[in-house]
Amino acid sequence: MRSHGHFAADEILGKAYDSRLMARVWTFTRPHRAVVFVTVVLFFPIALLELLQPYLLKIAIDHHILPRDWLGLTWVALAFLGALVLLYALRAWQSYLTHLTGQRVLHDLRQALFAHVQKMDAAFFDRNPVGRLMTRILNDVEAVSEVFTSGLVSILGDVVTLTGVIVVMLGMNWKLALVTFSLVPLLVAVAAFFRAKARTAYRLVRTRLAQLNAFLQESLQGMAVIQLFTRERQEFLRFAELNREHHRAQFRSSVYDAALYAAVEAIGSAAVAILLWHGGGQIWEGVLTFGGLVAFIEYTNRFFLPIRDLGAKYTVMQSAMASSERIFGLLDHRPSIVSSSRPVRAEPVRGAIEFGDVWFAYGGEEWVLSGCSFRVAPGERVALVGATGEGKTTIARLLNRSYDVSRGQVLVDGVDVREWDLAALRRQVGLIPQDVFLFTGTVEANLKLGADGVVPADVLARAVTMANARAFIESLPDGYQQELRERGANLSHGQRQLLAIARCLVYNPAVLVLDEATSSVDPESEALVQQAMGRLLAGRTSLIIAHRLSTIRMAHRILVLHKGQVREEGSHADLLRRRGLYARLYELQCGK
Ligand SMILES: Nc1ncnc2c1ncn2[C@@H]1O[C@H](COP(=O)(O)OP(=O)(O)O)[C@@H](O)[C@H]1O
Ligand SMILES: [Mg+2]
Repeated sequence: MRSHGHFAADEILGKAYDSRLMARVWTFTRPHRAVVFVTVVLFFPIALLELLQPYLLKIAIDHHILPRDWLGLTWVALAFLGALVLLYALRAWQSYLTHLTGQRVLHDLRQALFAHVQKMDAAFFDRNPVGRLMTRILNDVEAVSEVFTSGLVSILGDVVTLTGVIVVMLGMNWKLALVTFSLVPLLVAVAAFFRAKARTAYRLVRTRLAQLNAFLQESLQGMAVIQLFTRERQEFLRFAELNREHHRAQFRSSVYDAALYAAVEAIGSAAVAILLWHGGGQIWEGVLTFGGLVAFIEYTNRFFLPIRDLGAKYTVMQSAMASSERIFGLLDHRPSIVSSSRPVRAEPVRGAIEFGDVWFAYGGEEWVLSGCSFRVAPGERVALVGATGEGKTTIARLLNRSYDVSRGQVLVDGVDVREWDLAALRRQVGLIPQDVFLFTGTVEANLKLGADGVVPADVLARAVTMANARAFIESLPDGYQQELRERGANLSHGQRQLLAIARCLVYNPAVLVLDEATSSVDPESEALVQQAMGRLLAGRTSLIIAHRLSTIRMAHRILVLHKGQVREEGSHADLLRRRGLYARLYELQCGK
């Protein structure tokens, strides 16, 4: 039923370390280098304190316990306690610093990604579903920040401690050390085996989770339709299946993880047994002391501990690398619609529109517009009509440069839109779409959307009055401070349309495009919307995309779009008399 194809690409796990990617992640730590530096420096005292403990045990046993030296033992015990306290204090400090770095990198990366995504053009959002972008900005960023909290940074710490342990063990008793190290090849083989298994399982878990996510997102959004068509049972069965698959994959992955963990523990214990046996013999020979053996067993435990946890850290690194690859892929994507570097600006803005032999396709050679030409004079009010899918909305999008033409040009005030400063162009070309988008926040904040929040009270009041929105806003429990729910769900369609008109009056653009703005308003509010619309259009160049006669009648001139071109133009009466495309459209709609 649904395809989840594109998510597969999201789930590819590759290397656990890629120096090119790490170098780029590293650039994000630049403002926090001091913290990173302290973190790294802390590894050395921490490793030293780790190494000190078994050594203190050895001294306590050999020099104080066996000779029954109570005072000396007390001192060693105090030293041991002191070392422990210091060790945990340093560890806590370091953990605080790594989380600080991780959180800061997460914050900065998220900020950079959001800023970048904001520059992207409409075609980019056609290609990238919302779910995928959310994953980039939320989950992928989180995965990258784990490099600092539990990935590379703690691996580095392990390497420092491990090196110290190896050096001390070799220095203390190289024969016994080699006995312990003789188990390393076995350890490597076992770890490699389970890692490979766990990795495949883990990849499956991620694919399944992505499928579950995609399914859930669509299901929740379409719940109303699912319930209308009583598809609950089918949807539930599909969900149950996906959920089961995810559960199975997760379970398998856990089994391998647990097996690896247990295997390393077992090998570590085997090492202790061999040490006991071998070391015991050395004690009889007088080569090793009691305390020496105990210390050695302690070092051996510290040798196996980081190796046991390496699996988890490997997984963290692997997903961090995969996530950073995707993040940088997104950051490297250049927007194809950018402001002209040397913008030409027509001042003052008159609001003339011209389409000159415009060709446009959303992709490939499927021309939506093919040689479309027309002009709208400053202050003129023109209606654009045509059957569904003829490209009316597309014309609106080309005018404000949501997309760029493939051939020909779109001119505003005689200047190609590609030569305009993008922000200036969009400041002059307003659009009211069929589906008004309101943001969560107060009514007032939504009204001031285009004006950076600074709007004189009288301007706001006048706009609201002109838009016929005053009565209903004042009837809201909190008036202008009424909180709107997501997308203004607590308002009727007509009310949202009135708010959009008021918002546009505040924004006050020279050119206005109404894209079927009145088509889904209920008959009750239609008169109000119609009247407000009339006031909004006064004195502005406007392009009214409409199919209602009442709206079309507000226009001075009508353009008929057919097969990618403007085929007819004239007044309503002219066009009816011509008995062409317009007459046919009109008859279809009026049912005559
Ligand atoms: N974002 C898009 N990506 C690909 N094709 C699109 C997109 N938007 C519209 N189209 C296609 O372009 C054609 C014109 O669409 P549109 O301008 O919305 O028509 P109208 O507003 O006249 O109903 C349609 O065939 C539609 O399928
Ligand atoms: Mg449309």
